[in-house]
Amino acid sequence: CGIVGYIGMRDAQDVLLSGLAKLEYRGYDSAGVAVRGVEQIEVRKKAGKLANLQGELSGAPLPGTLGIGHTRWATHGLPNDTNAHPHATEDGRLVIIHNGIIENYLSLKAGLRERGHVFRSETDSEVLAHLIEEKYDLTGGDLYESVRLALGEVRGAYGIVVTHVDHREIVAARTVSPLVMGVGEGEMFLASDVPALLPYTRRMVFLHDGDMVVLHDDGFRVTDLQGNTLTRSIDTIEWDAEAAEKGGYDSYMLKEIYEQPQALTNTLIGRLHDETGEVNLDINLDPASFKRISIIACGTAYYAGLVGEYLIEQLARIPVEVDVASEYRYRDPIVSPETLAIVISQSGETIDTLEALREAKKGGARTLGVINAKGSSMTRELDDTLYIHAGPEIGVASTKAYTSMVGAMLMLALWLARARGTLSEEAGKELLHATRELPRLVEEALSEERVSRIREVAERYAHARDYLFLGRGVNAPTAFEGALKLKEISYIHAEGYAAGEMKHGPIALIDANLPVVVVGTESRLLEKTISNVQEVRARAGRVILLLSDGDTENAQHADDVLYVPRSHEMVSPIVNVVTLQLLSYFTATHLGKDVDKPRNLAKSVTVE
Ligand code: G6P
Repeated sequence: CGIVGYIGMRDAQDVLLSGLAKLEYRGYDSAGVAVRGVEQIEVRKKAGKLANLQGELSGAPLPGTLGIGHTRWATHGLPNDTNAHPHATEDGRLVIIHNGIIENYLSLKAGLRERGHVFRSETDSEVLAHLIEEKYDLTGGDLYESVRLALGEVRGAYGIVVTHVDHREIVAARTVSPLVMGVGEGEMFLASDVPALLPYTRRMVFLHDGDMVVLHDDGFRVTDLQGNTLTRSIDTIEWDAEAAEKGGYDSYMLKEIYEQPQALTNTLIGRLHDETGEVNLDINLDPASFKRISIIACGTAYYAGLVGEYLIEQLARIPVEVDVASEYRYRDPIVSPETLAIVISQSGETIDTLEALREAKKGGARTLGVINAKGSSMTRELDDTLYIHAGPEIGVASTKAYTSMVGAMLMLALWLARARGTLSEEAGKELLHATRELPRLVEEALSEERVSRIREVAERYAHARDYLFLGRGVNAPTAFEGALKLKEISYIHAEGYAAGEMKHGPIALIDANLPVVVVGTESRLLEKTISNVQEVRARAGRVILLLSDGDTENAQHADDVLYVPRSHEMVSPIVNVVTLQLLSYFTATHLGKDVDKPRNLAKSVTVE
């Protein structure tokens, strides 16, 4: 989703529309603006592309110099005109835009209904609008204070922007959703990303998690949610438009690697219930209606499927098979109404996967998609779609979509296991807890110290001709994905192998020129993995070993150790793969390759 806000002397509508256009790459299915006139705040919103809204406004522009605008990617509620943002209260005096998810919105809504509030949309955002309105009356019309009090009752993730007809100010706050403020002369701007503001100002303030801000024509005030004033520096942005889209990173791929904590938060949010150890996926699938599962995907998504197979079989005890889509289609697969076919795809457009989906449907299978791109071709043919909400992925080599796909498969496995009674409430809670920790652990895996260590190791081995990646169990696919990433962006030949299978072939390749990356993090099979490491060492192979923090004992078996944050084995593929993404990234950049557009590859392959 994208947010833009403006207060100053310009025509607000122009600033909002040009800003929203710059945020287009974030993806959306509806757009809207609110402009403060003399007696009312006028709201216009339209489902579909921004052009629809532009069309409507060009006939009847909204006059005013204060406004807020939004592009939405639907989470709760359909992408239609009513559910689009901004949301106004019934009297139209208070208007709000909200990104993210209010986890406790149902209970908040019930309370508000009892107190006489009437709702027009299905969104959690409207609930927030009513809650703020209630506080507004309580505080005798203090807009900042009413937003602050309302947020105190909210559980979830948000970027919110609020304005009221009686005040010449904009109040905003953020937790996980990004917000940046632009500082002008006698005008102030707000947006979810820098490109929207670059045509107007280069002086920007990046808001932190938990910041609130009040914008006036001639300045701003930042506070925390307790109301304490905070100092935030004004940075001057030197980036050009393209660099700004990359958020100041050298490439989209690196930006997307760093976006993983946020992407995962978006995947998980609103879906985990700690109190009951249960998962809510908002799908109509009956968990008892099938006897076997076929997972179908291509490329990186296929490896997410392999992790899914492991998790579903372990936790839910349902037989799973995983196929690359191009094979599934033509191997005359055995499908019946007792099959659940799960397709995994970032784009939702990959033709092999789409055709395999059709093949599964022909056989009578129930179908579920694990998809990133809203409204994509697959979603129109699937019975159910579990969106991963990773946000737009532009780098050709998939990174954040992968970790979010695995996050989605993990939740699916948990959901099936709890519904089918193969996982106790207690075990469910433990895994839920481990799952919730993921964004923090991935953030930790991206710490400056670790990243510079990965870079150093990558550069040391960058001249190797071949690479071998090994892993076991739930982390065998981590090794496969690590090898795929390296091939894709550095053009170094790499193979991913199940560690125990190495002795049946690839062992013949081992010599002093072959770096072998081994995922050796905490697991019940770690001892066995270490035996495989010794087999490599005995043949003079060079071992780069991923170990869990604190495992000093096994460090002796490696030429180079890369420590990763400790995590529950079942969730560890998500934490571990981050180090391998960076290893590929630094290898490729050291060799001078264009990581965002690797040769011969396409982001989404729509030919067979
Ligand atoms: C292409 C990309 C891969 C991607 C695969 C599947 O081959 O180069 O990075 O994993 O398609 O894409 P999908 O959009 O279906 O996840």
